[in-house]
Amino acid sequence: MRKNIVAGNWKMNTTLQEGIALATSVEKWVSEHPSKVKVIVAPPFTHLSDVGKVLHHVGLSSQNCSSEVSGAYTGEVSVSMLTSVNAAYAIIGHSERRSIYGETDAILAKKVKIALQAGLTPIFCCGEILKERESNIHFDVVRKQIEEALFILTPEEFSHIIIAYEPVWAIGTGVNATPAQAQEMHQYIRKLILSKFGASLADDLSILYGGSCKPSNAHELFANPDVDGGLIGGASLKAEDFIGIIQAF
Ligand code: 13P
Repeated sequence: MRKNIVAGNWKMNTTLQEGIALATSVEKWVSEHPSKVKVIVAPPFTHLSDVGKVLHHVGLSSQNCSSEVSGAYTGEVSVSMLTSVNAAYAIIGHSERRSIYGETDAILAKKVKIALQAGLTPIFCCGEILKERESNIHFDVVRKQIEEALFILTPEEFSHIIIAYEPVWAIGTGVNATPAQAQEMHQYIRKLILSKFGASLADDLSILYGGSCKPSNAHELFANPDVDGGLIGGASLKAEDFIGIIQAF
């Protein structure tokens, strides 16, 4: 079944103590306000274990994972390390990983596969840069990102995927996609998935919007039929703002 999801990507922010305090506030609110919205937080790797201990109603995600199982990969974090601290989700293919750390579609395809094999739910990110939208190739860009990393999956594997559409020009800029732009791309993505995996999996897929989502615009974004929630950066760092976004449903 398609779920409404609000996930907070903390990126490289918060000390451990700040992270525990933030997670504790979010957990408290979610526990006191039962709803059908699934709330997830993605703290830095160093915080996962301790943050996980304060979460009971909120899901725990990593922001990345290694494309390798184990071994001599200095500085990497494996999927079994993540499941060993009770992470249930892994953000894969964030535009910052693609652009700053050179993660290619081929690497991301490996990460998705390996995460699924470990029992993690990938939150797979896709999205075009401004130049690509201005050149009117944004649909092709997103299609290629999805085809390369997700079309190799079996239908069973695909049933565990969450997709996050994050137009790069909207990330951290204060300029969000308009509700119409978000709906148009989300609908396109759902049709693409339908063509590959069929109507049932396409209908069940949660597609999140990310990019300058905040309490003041979340409601109009989430009101679209193909926008099933949000992947939130800056506004997930303040419990009040993040909760405001959850309340947009
Ligand atoms: P902002 O909400 O800060 O624009 O970041 C979005 C994002 O990159 C979430 O992964």
